[in-house]
Amino acid sequence: MDDLRHSAADATSEPLAHSISGSTTTLPRPARDEQQSRSPSERIQPFIQRFNSTISGADRSVMLGHKPVTVWLTGLSGAGKSTIAFRLERELMAMGRLCYVLDGDNVRHGLTSDLGFSKEDRRENIRRVAHVARLMNDAGLIVIAALISPMHEDRDMARAIVGSDRFVETYVSASANDCAKRDPKGLYAKAQAGTIASFTGVSAPYEPPLHPEVLVDTTALTVADSVSRVLDHLRLHFLLKR
Ligand code: ADX
Repeated sequence: MDDLRHSAADATSEPLAHSISGSTTTLPRPARDEQQSRSPSERIQPFIQRFNSTISGADRSVMLGHKPVTVWLTGLSGAGKSTIAFRLERELMAMGRLCYVLDGDNVRHGLTSDLGFSKEDRRENIRRVAHVARLMNDAGLIVIAALISPMHEDRDMARAIVGSDRFVETYVSASANDCAKRDPKGLYAKAQAGTIASFTGVSAPYEPPLHPEVLVDTTALTVADSVSRVLDHLRLHFLLKR
């Protein structure tokens, strides 16, 4: 057992005790930062292999009545992402389709509770959520992800992780001014007073999607109409006729 533990430790990047002429020195290990800066596909530890399921995606689609998809809702805080996400979830469940919402505020209570709102932390937040979405899609579910995800580059990363053919970038559009007027959580007032740093739309950037698959302008549409726009897209491309 000790031997096993020892060799497992050797395979990781723990510090290595090394004996040189009778004295023990510690060799530098690859820094954790170095690990983090690698792209996700380069971060896989050595000696890790895949074991494939004998259940295909098509088997799951037939059972569930839809092809897996991730509806990625992006937009400012207060634009209406969560409202649309949970209404869409309700509609899909009423239609007998299995789905789940990954909401930014919710995942930040657990999966990403160690992350803040720096550029790097947001990127890591998005990366983790995208991987969870991918796993849920592999299990056959419809995923509705509602994250500000302010940067093109990070949304493109999410698309690459999930797979472009099952990623529906949905821009929940409302200007920073409109969101500040709504201010459902009182965060814009705090950001404008300087109490919250790096607040998207006030003191941190938001890059609107240039070519989203779906656009819902929540300053012009009701919640029901916004949800219908997304549902129309899903009906056309992902929901199977029953
Ligand atoms: S993201 O930028 O990393 O995609 P995410 O969607 O997870 O953000 O979280 C956004 C939510 O966190 C907002 O709806 C808001 O309630 C809260 N929040 C707290 N601080 C900030 C901030 N500095 N900028 C934006 N949202 C914040």
